[in-house]
Amino acid sequence: MSALDDSPRPETVAPVSRLKTISYLLLAGYAMVLALGSAFGADKPAAVFEGKQTLLRPEGYRQWVFVGSSLGLRYDPESEKSASTNSQQFQNVYINPVAFREFARTGKFPNGTVFILEIASSETKAESGLQGSYQKDFIALEAAVKDTARFDDGWAYFSFDDEKGKRKDKATPFPRSACFDCHHQKAATDHVFTQFYPVLRALPRK
Ligand code: HEC
Repeated sequence: MSALDDSPRPETVAPVSRLKTISYLLLAGYAMVLALGSAFGADKPAAVFEGKQTLLRPEGYRQWVFVGSSLGLRYDPESEKSASTNSQQFQNVYINPVAFREFARTGKFPNGTVFILEIASSETKAESGLQGSYQKDFIALEAAVKDTARFDDGWAYFSFDDEKGKRKDKATPFPRSACFDCHHQKAATDHVFTQFYPVLRALPRK
């Protein structure tokens, strides 16, 4: 249409332009679904790597499945002596939803499983009318990832805290002796401490 031509369009084009409008609307709707999906991380794997083994800090994990929380729980030969004097920490554990569903169905953790361990300081109240402990500040973030193609041991373990206690954007796996060995020896299900996660224990047994 030229700029000079401002005559009304003939009736006959109307159905075509209506069709166009409908397809534009459909396209816009589809784009919105895609955008929402990526905003909630639905189209991304839970573990995103840079190169072979550098894990980017997982995002959105507080919207994953929360499997349990422990207070001051650890394997430590000294713990009998120090338990009462050490200030205890809460450990909150999350699993990515896709892996949760697969575990619920098969009893196995699939490749791509990510567990997050978020550590919070505890504050204890003992005053008249208010008793007990609650989570105060988030102080550390760790992850375990299962990927048998990427890691010789199947699982790798990461921390997203630097020496100054600041949050890092990416992390490389710990050596075996730092994390894997204890998980290998003491965890109930495929290196995962399901014995401490009531949400996973409560799933119907296969
Ligand atoms: C001496 C034993 C021991 C060592 C060493 C250890 N862990 Fe764990 N880990 C545990 C226990 C016990 C739990 C159970 C969860 C809790 O504490 O609430 C756990 C749970 C976890 C979880 C949650 C998923 C799961 O596997 O159950 C992550 C993630 C994790 N540890 C990361 C690490 C990292 C990273 C390291 C090395 C820096 C590490 N762990 C070293 C004992 C250990």
